[in-house]
Amino acid sequence: MKFLITGGLGFIGTNLIKFLLSKNEHEILNLDKITYSANSSVNKYFKLNDLYRFVKGDICDETLLTSLLNDFKPDFVMNLAAESHVDKSISGPNDFIRTNIFGTTNLLNTTKDYWSKLSGEKKYQFRFHHISTDEVFGSVFDDGLFHEESRYDPSSPYAASKASSDHLVRAWHKTYGLPILISNCSNNYGPYQYPEKLIPLIILNALNFKTLPIYGNGLQVRDWLHVEDHVKALYTIITKGKVGETYNIGANNQISNIKLVKNICNFLDSEIEDKQKEIKSYKDLIIYVKDRPGHDVCYGIDARKIKKDLDWKPEIDFQLGIQKTIKWYIKNKFLYIT
Ligand SMILES: NC(=O)c1ccc[n+]([C@@H]2O[C@H](COP(=O)([O-])OP(=O)(O)OC[C@H]3O[C@@H](n4cnc5c(N)ncnc54)[C@H](O)[C@@H]3O)[C@@H](O)[C@H]2O)c1
Repeated sequence: MKFLITGGLGFIGTNLIKFLLSKNEHEILNLDKITYSANSSVNKYFKLNDLYRFVKGDICDETLLTSLLNDFKPDFVMNLAAESHVDKSISGPNDFIRTNIFGTTNLLNTTKDYWSKLSGEKKYQFRFHHISTDEVFGSVFDDGLFHEESRYDPSSPYAASKASSDHLVRAWHKTYGLPILISNCSNNYGPYQYPEKLIPLIILNALNFKTLPIYGNGLQVRDWLHVEDHVKALYTIITKGKVGETYNIGANNQISNIKLVKNICNFLDSEIEDKQKEIKSYKDLIIYVKDRPGHDVCYGIDARKIKKDLDWKPEIDFQLGIQKTIKWYIKNKFLYIT
């Protein structure tokens, strides 16, 4: 199959493209603007594969999208291009509105024009998959889990921009019949994540003997999923998902931020013996800082639908996954420490 992937040099996109190329049967066109969070160093390895093509560009560029769609003729479009950091969305929301809302609309519109000209099997099998987040639901209440039918209640500008894009994707299905799929996933961890996000930030700060900042009391709960489990879920959804449906993705790993950070410190303590004299444990670097405004207290995903309907389940145990991730950042810290 031919996959047009947007934002394929980001954290999840990089892992998705690695997974797809490992199958050695799919053609990939990756459209990425190469913002600060892109893994540009990995692109040169991807480019060694004949099944991979890269275009540097913006999903807000209508002319570019139209020509890429008509030349490449994808079977699947997977939209991962996004501004993705909550703190950045609070200090400067405009880029989030532009890429996440306007960019997604532009991609929907150009894809709809491309798809409407297809015929036969090519048209029948075409899918547009929008990759989204559990943050659209706000903080959990009632039974403590987000379901596919949970009410949208985003807190941050980032979450609100993703919520808007989800609604637009549904509208393009209901109004124009575009065969869409949406997935809302919990927090991911794993290799190739830009160190503005909690896990790589903590690991790389610790390796540099910098402070480990914890928002508020650190009791905010997140539901963690290894990115390699996420990309397998995305592949399952695009190949087997029912048109028009939304799927929640998660592994039922709810952990408070402070517990997670202490867990990382304990593992670093056991891995790295020659610490600086001033610290007995990496936990000594933890500091509590003023809480993020509008900080959601708790996320939790009910992923029974994707398990039941599409037979996907997470495979990576959290403790093993986080240890493997820490070792990956120790080995690859040169990618991030300047
Ligand atoms: N990381 C998570 O834990 C998580 C969890 C659930 C859902 N998601 C969603 O998955 C998607 C990908 O997240 P990520 O963590 O890989 O983000 P990321 O910030 O690591 O990567 C985003 C990528 O998009 C590219 N990009 C940004 N603006 C663009 C534009 N206008 N045109 C083309 N490319 C552009 C960037 O260069 C980058 O390579 C996002 O939509 C996010 O909401 C992420």
